[in-house]
Amino acid sequence: MKLILLGAPGAGKGTQAEVVCEKLAIPAISTGNILREAMKNETEMGVKAKAYIDSGALVPDDVIISIIKERLAQDDCKNGFILDGVPRTVAQAEALEAMGIEIDKVVDIEVSDETIVKRLSGRRVCSACGASYHTIYKPSAKPDECDRCGGSLIVRKDDEPSTILERLKVYHELTEPLVDFYRARGKLVVVEGQEEVADTTKLLFEKLGV
Ligand code: AP5
Ligand code: ZN
Repeated sequence: MKLILLGAPGAGKGTQAEVVCEKLAIPAISTGNILREAMKNETEMGVKAKAYIDSGALVPDDVIISIIKERLAQDDCKNGFILDGVPRTVAQAEALEAMGIEIDKVVDIEVSDETIVKRLSGRRVCSACGASYHTIYKPSAKPDECDRCGGSLIVRKDDEPSTILERLKVYHELTEPLVDFYRARGKLVVVEGQEEVADTTKLLFEKLGV
C-alpha cells in the first residue's frame, strides 16, 4: 500500500506511522527525520535546512522533491511506503504525480490547534536515536532518559512556543489545501486524531481496511 499521512504538526503522524509501518511491513518515510539527520551530520543540505526548520518555515520544495525522489527509488519501497509529513505543499504533491507515483490513500489526521499546542509543548525526543516521548501522554520510564537507548531527552528547537504557532500558521496556509487536492482525486480518508493514540490507530486501521 502507498500511503500519505497528512495532518498538522503534532497531529500524531510520526506516532501512527510507526504502528502502521510495522503492521503493513512497509517503510515509513519522514522528510522531517531525514532533514534532522542531515542537520545532525552537518551535511550541506542539513546546514541549508536548519534556518528554515528552526524558525518553523518549510524547507524549499526543490530540496524536498529531490529527497523524496532518491528515497522512493530505493528497493525497500517497491511494495509500498508511508509518507509522513510529505507532500506538504501543492507543488510537492504535483511533483509526486509527475514522478508517476500512484498513491492509494491519503489519511488526514484531524486534531484541534489547542491540542496541537499541548502535544508539541510536552514532546521530548531522544538526542541519540530520535525516539519520541511526551511528558504526560508517553513518559519515559526514567526522567529525561530514552527507554530504547538511554540517550538524553531534549525539546526539539522547533517545539518552542512561538515556533509552534508559526508552524501551525504555515500548515493552515500551505499544507491544508492538500486536503481538497486529494479529496478531489478520491483518495482522502479523514481520521479523528483527538483521542488517545490507540483510538486513532483503531480508526486508522478500520478506514484502511487492514
Ligand atoms: P516534521 O518532523 O515532519 O514535523 P511536523 O509535521 O511538524 O510533525 P511533528 O513531527 O511535529 O508531529 P507529528 O504529527 O509527527 O506528531 P508526533 O507523532 O510526533 O517536520 C519538521 C520541519 O521539517 C518542518 O517544520 C519543515 O521545516 C521541515 N519539513 C519536513 N518535511 C517537509 C516538507 N515536506 N516540505 C517542507 N518542509 C518540510 O506527536 C507529537 C507529540 O504528541 C508526541 O510527543 C507524541 O507522543 C504525542 N502524541 C501523538 N499522538 C497522541 C495522542 N493521540 N494523544 C496524546 N499524545 C499524542
Ligand atoms: Zn534513544
